[in-house]
Amino acid sequence: MKKTIISTLLLSASVLFMMAFVPQGKKGAVDNGIGPIKSVKIGKIDQDMVSEGNSIFYSKCYLCHDIDETKLAPPLRGVAKKQTPVFIMNYLLNTAEMQEKDPQIKALMEQFSNVPKMPDQQLTKEQARAVLEFLRTIE
Ligand code: HEC
Repeated sequence: MKKTIISTLLLSASVLFMMAFVPQGKKGAVDNGIGPIKSVKIGKIDQDMVSEGNSIFYSKCYLCHDIDETKLAPPLRGVAKKQTPVFIMNYLLNTAEMQEKDPQIKALMEQFSNVPKMPDQQLTKEQARAVLEFLRTIE
């Protein structure tokens, strides 16, 4: 009897635990991705950041991404309008987890399933912010 009560209690506790952690459907909610960035200050275009972002783009991204043409990966013009600044920075800084969990990235990976998924580019937060600034200039 005691055993049954204990196992019933354990079972309900684990069900409650799982309910708390299963993501709830968030239809219509803004997708900010998953990662270390919670907010990004966006202001007037900062030209210093743009030029740093521009050189990072041509050294680390251009192999796969062009601005207007589809190379191995989607063209990046307009991506800073399509996605939120927080989403873009989280994706650049936490690529693998977003590939596993973010519905938009998962859909893109399916669309580009003939090429390897985007590798983590090992950017610092400052570099990712600079890339974002560059992407804002090619909206
Ligand atoms: C080896 C190829 C490759 C490199 C290098 C690469 N990417 Fe990607 N990127 C991809 C692929 C493939 C996807 C599609 C989704 C995925 O695989 O995660 C993607 C998706 C994206 C997206 C999402 C686009 C959307 O419409 O939401 C962004 C933003 C992005 N990449 C930015 C970058 C930036 C910035 C760099 C450089 C710092 C970079 N990528 C380097 C292959 C690459």
